[in-house]
Amino acid sequence: MVHIAIFASGTGSNALKIIDHFRNHSSISIALVASNKPGAGVLDIAERKNIPSLIIEKERFFRGDGYVSELKRRNIQWIILAGFLWKIPTSLIQAFPGKIINIHPALLPKYGGKGMYGHFVHEAVIEAKEKESGITIHYVDEEFDHGKHILQLTCPVEDTDTPETLAKKIQVLEHKHYPEVIARLINENLKIEGI
Ligand code: GAR
Repeated sequence: MVHIAIFASGTGSNALKIIDHFRNHSSISIALVASNKPGAGVLDIAERKNIPSLIIEKERFFRGDGYVSELKRRNIQWIILAGFLWKIPTSLIQAFPGKIINIHPALLPKYGGKGMYGHFVHEAVIEAKEKESGITIHYVDEEFDHGKHILQLTCPVEDTDTPETLAKKIQVLEHKHYPEVIARLINENLKIEGI
């Protein structure tokens, strides 16, 4: 069984889609939901779905071992960021090379980086009068929203769109594709590793 940890800071609608997608899966299990925000909606989802959860504390995350020992102890092999708003420390990136992925609600490299999340992204896209936006699924490296791209999908931005209507379109794309991309990546890796 491949064990995944989902890291999320907010409502957790993507986390929920991922959890439901892998429920009763033959080789992939969502083994942990980790959040830096006590009280985040994603923690209620974890509880409802009977998935162990963990609160990530700043000191240990950034100046301790980045929770590497804790994640290894729980046999976690992949880390999926789903609206996780803290930068991933080097200790964690080195301990999980090529095994941490993120989703961003825009077409990176545009509209990414520190502070570019959630509605801020959609407001910036509308403000710039972009004709399209979309999602980027990418590997995580030491810089915010920066690692190698895995998949980008676009959607049109109409003159009548508001940050809210654009957010909705992007969310539809995220929910539809993120779980599938995760499944594909892990399965391809299993083949490469000969398991
Ligand atoms: C998602 O739209 C995700 O792309 C975004 O946060 C939202 C989380 O929503 N992530 C970022 O902006 C990362 N820079 P959710 O809590 O409903 O899944």
